[in-house]
Amino acid sequence: MAKIGIVYYSMYGATYELARTIAEGIEKAGGEAHLRRVPDPLLPDEVKAADGVREAIAAQAEVPTADVDELVEFDGIVLGSPTRYGSATSQLQAFLDTTGAHWQNGALVGKAAGFFTGAGTIHGGHETTIMSMATFAFHQGMNIVPVGYGIAPEVMASRTGGGPYGPTQLGDGEGLSEDERVIALSYGEHFARTAAKLAA
Ligand SMILES: Cc1cc2nc3c(=O)[nH]c(=O)nc-3n(C[C@H](O)[C@H](O)[C@H](O)COP(=O)(O)O)c2cc1C
Repeated sequence: MAKIGIVYYSMYGATYELARTIAEGIEKAGGEAHLRRVPDPLLPDEVKAADGVREAIAAQAEVPTADVDELVEFDGIVLGSPTRYGSATSQLQAFLDTTGAHWQNGALVGKAAGFFTGAGTIHGGHETTIMSMATFAFHQGMNIVPVGYGIAPEVMASRTGGGPYGPTQLGDGEGLSEDERVIALSYGEHFARTAAKLAA
C-alpha cells in the first residue's frame, strides 16, 4: 500500500476540495492519503477574518500542518497550490524552501511527485503553476506522474479545469465541476498505483 502525502495551500478552500478529491482517489486504489497543509505565517489577521477566508480556515482546522521531516516517509508527494500571477503561492514555495537537507541527502530521489492547482480564469495559468511546482521534483530527483490523456476521457472533454499536466479547478465559487472531480479522482487512483510500483 502506497503512503502518499498531499501537501497543499488553500486560502479560499477550492484547492482543499481538490486535495480531498485526490485523496479519495488514492484511498479508492488502496493507498493511504495524508493531507497536510503548509503553514501560512504571512496572512494578516484582517484577511484571515474576511468572508470566504474565515470559513476556509475553519474547514481546514483539523488538517495537520506539513512537517518537512515527514516527507521522507511518503512513497509519493502531491503538491497543490492556488495560482497566483501564473505561479504557485509563496506559502507553498516557502515550505518547499525548507527541504534543502532532503536535496542534500537525496532523501526524495525516486519518489512519485504530482501537482494540482486552481485558478480564477480558464487561461490564467493552470499549466504554468503546475510547471512552476514541477521544478521542485526535477531538482529532488523525483518521478513526475502526470495526468496524461489516457486515465479518463474527461481530460479531453473538460471545458473547465483538469488537463494532462495535473488536476485543476476553475474557481467559480461553485465547487468542482463533474469533469474536474472525475479527473482528480482518477488521478488519485493512478498516482497511488504508480507510487506503489515505484516503491516496490
Ligand atoms: C493574489 C492573487 C493572485 C491571483 N492570480 C491569479 C492568476 O494569475 N490567474 C488566475 O486565473 N487566478 C488568479 N487568482 C485567483 C486564484 O487562483 C483562485 O481564486 C484560486 O482558485 C483560489 O484557490 P483557493 O480557494 O484554494 O485559495 C489569484 C488570486 C489572488 C488572491
